[in-house]
Amino acid sequence: MENIILKAVEAHKLKRDEIVSILADDNINEALFRAADKVRNEFVGDEIHLRGLIEFSNICKRNCFYCGLRCENKDIERYRILEDEIVSYAKNAVEMGYRTIVLQSGEDPYFTAEKLAKTVAEIKKCGAAITLSIGEMDEKDYRLLKEAGADRFLLRIETTDPVLYEKFHPKMSLDNRIKCLKTIKKLGYETGTGVLVGLPNQTLESLADDILFFKELNADMIGIGPLIPHPNTPLKDATQGDFTLALKVMAITRLLMPDINIPATTAMETVNPNGRIIALQSGANVVMPNVTISDYRKKYEIYPNKICINEDESKCRNCIESKIISIGRKISTNFGFRKQI
Ligand code: 5AD
Ligand code: SF4
Ligand code: FES
Repeated sequence: MENIILKAVEAHKLKRDEIVSILADDNINEALFRAADKVRNEFVGDEIHLRGLIEFSNICKRNCFYCGLRCENKDIERYRILEDEIVSYAKNAVEMGYRTIVLQSGEDPYFTAEKLAKTVAEIKKCGAAITLSIGEMDEKDYRLLKEAGADRFLLRIETTDPVLYEKFHPKMSLDNRIKCLKTIKKLGYETGTGVLVGLPNQTLESLADDILFFKELNADMIGIGPLIPHPNTPLKDATQGDFTLALKVMAITRLLMPDINIPATTAMETVNPNGRIIALQSGANVVMPNVTISDYRKKYEIYPNKICINEDESKCRNCIESKIISIGRKISTNFGFRKQI
């Protein structure tokens, strides 16, 4: 088994059954995490890129089975941060030292590509890189936003298993999701995707397919997180996704895609009090602290017990900086685009 890990460290390739065997064997976990940490160090170095996250609208027309923002959840106070206020949070984040602003929301019909393009152009004037995480759109909309200055786009595939995908995403299609990702890539965005670990009936084989999908797409960023059941969703009684399994999916992704950006996700820290630091020592090199004010954070409840909902942006910045320094890593001062090998 250790040989398979060694092979992946050298060749950055694994077959489906090899990935499954690593996922199935918990005796090799430490070796896997050490190997991913080494590959991370070799290819992207010790610097950690911080991305300032603005959750600007929790209004969503979709109905994903796991997510608290789904339109059928009536037990949530909806909000929308308007354009000027988004720009002011972004400016504040840039003044705090963030070089990338991530604009994330549900699929809120108010925010047409035209409206957001203006906001993107305004934020670009501050000299920040911009990542969008706003869901599925038409090619013309993705293009408009790219032309307005957006640099990166995050759109998780969530699962590549067609049966699970259709089941947990009513009226959505896996084919369209893949089509969106290909369009995003084609338009020149740095492209981010990722999956949920722990969906009901998800198998290790299906997770192996997810990892192979990341590689085939040649994604530039991969975000992995455990499923955290939300009480107001159809998956309320599901078992929480396993932290270690999510970490293993992330670590194997690092072995196979040595030069990409991999965030230590908020969901990881929600299920494990030291989750982000553990992730940063098992292949991750990015953190996305929230830079919106606490009032909104509480309401962006994609899953319960999200971290940092009562903290403010300077508290989170200091908190994460000190954690990063405590493990001997540094905070990057550049944009943190994917390094080419
Ligand atoms: N648990 C964990 N992650 C979730 N997401 C949505 N709902 C949940 C949940 N209950 C993730 C999805 C989405 C990202 C923004 O949040 O993967 O892409
Ligand atoms: Fe909307 Fe995204 Fe939540 Fe699905 S996961 S309901 S698209 S916010
Ligand atoms: Fe928000 Fe630690 S990152 S309190």
